[in-house]
Amino acid sequence: MKVLVVGSGGREHALCWAIAASPLCTKLYCAPGNGGIAAEAQCVDIAADDLDGLTAFCRDTAIDFVVVGPEQPLVAGLVDRLEAAGVKAFGPSAQAAALEGSKGFTKDLCARHGIPTAAYGRFAEAAAARAFVAEKGAPIVVKADGLAAGKGVIMAETEDQALEAIDEIFGGRFGAAGAEVVIEEWLIGEEASFFALVDGEHALPLAAAQDHKRVGDGDTGPNTGGMGAYSPAPVVTGAVADQVMERIVRPTIAAMKAEGRPFRGVLFAGLMITEAGPQLIEYNVRFGDPECQVLMMRLKSDILPALVAAADGQLASFDLRWRDEAALTVVMAAKGYPGGYEKGSVIRGLDGLSGEDVQVFHAGTALSDGDVVATGGRVLAVTALGATVAEAQRRAYAAVDRIDWPEGFCRRDIGWRAVGR
Ligand code: AMP
Ligand code: GLY
Repeated sequence: MKVLVVGSGGREHALCWAIAASPLCTKLYCAPGNGGIAAEAQCVDIAADDLDGLTAFCRDTAIDFVVVGPEQPLVAGLVDRLEAAGVKAFGPSAQAAALEGSKGFTKDLCARHGIPTAAYGRFAEAAAARAFVAEKGAPIVVKADGLAAGKGVIMAETEDQALEAIDEIFGGRFGAAGAEVVIEEWLIGEEASFFALVDGEHALPLAAAQDHKRVGDGDTGPNTGGMGAYSPAPVVTGAVADQVMERIVRPTIAAMKAEGRPFRGVLFAGLMITEAGPQLIEYNVRFGDPECQVLMMRLKSDILPALVAAADGQLASFDLRWRDEAALTVVMAAKGYPGGYEKGSVIRGLDGLSGEDVQVFHAGTALSDGDVVATGGRVLAVTALGATVAEAQRRAYAAVDRIDWPEGFCRRDIGWRAVGR
């Protein structure tokens, strides 16, 4: 099977690493890929949002199966385009990707089908949104409706902050993603990321994970795409996982099917585990980054047949096996991230680091004259297995400490919640 993975981050490196190990995969491509992915796959210089270019490449190269990593091409309809061209793909149609592409769509779906999530209002103009804030008071959460690269959520501790956020969003700060605003109750609890493969009708739960969104130690500073993650997530006990499947994931899949937009792909439920049980914060329609890195480390089974079964509507009889060990990943980012940062610095010390218990997944890297150079904000995801989260943490940081990259930084406390339990 000739497989194309779309994307260029640590998530896509982990997917390529797992897919390259499948006996079913005869040739692996990645578009556009990165400096680390080049060791697993043939990188092709087509951007992840170039729908025409990707579709033409798949036709010309007779690609059998496409795995789409990031959300933008899914929401833009890449899977629909590929299917129209006769190319099988893992990921939702544009209509089903609305679960991530429109927060208002998802909130309305939850309301119609009794899926537990924060109380909310949905607004297309500022005056009504401002009146809602005045009525509800603070703290409150203000969100741009559409895709905003993880920056469209404002946690407002005061009414003034909420009103300012409303004005900024309607003022065009997030472009078309801010055509509507969702305002919600601020949920209290512990967050977790829950993943399930879905084939339109059936769901196969994967392992759960927790990530660290804030840039600084102790979960301080601005939000990022994710500075580290670990799996399993102690807060997602077997009982909680059952509740998530029964109350959130299965009703969503049934609702999407009933409403004529069956969901296929990986459903990523961002959860708040509250005193009243798990509540949905939001859906993503793709693997998390860096959660994918820890999931792929823990997966024992071949991932490729599972992804194909999801695309084919054949998940009902499927099972996946996981290692008992924990996995933990530490993201190394360029100094300045998530603000401005320099590109082009050389990363040394990577040789010989990856092995049985450690994998260094690349995100923003490129190869230049034999050197690995940093080209993005999040640059490496240093990932390790261990008997416990604490052991995985020790191994990951031991590997981090062997990497010679003065222009980079990482958090030193990834996994603190699990280690402290
Ligand atoms: P997102 O960018 O949509 O993943 O949201 C970013 C983060 O905002 C989430 O991971 C949560 O930490 C937080 N968040 C979003 N909505 C809520 C909510 N209703 N209550 C509490 N925290 C929230
Ligand atoms: N790590 C969170 C995300 O991928 O959205």
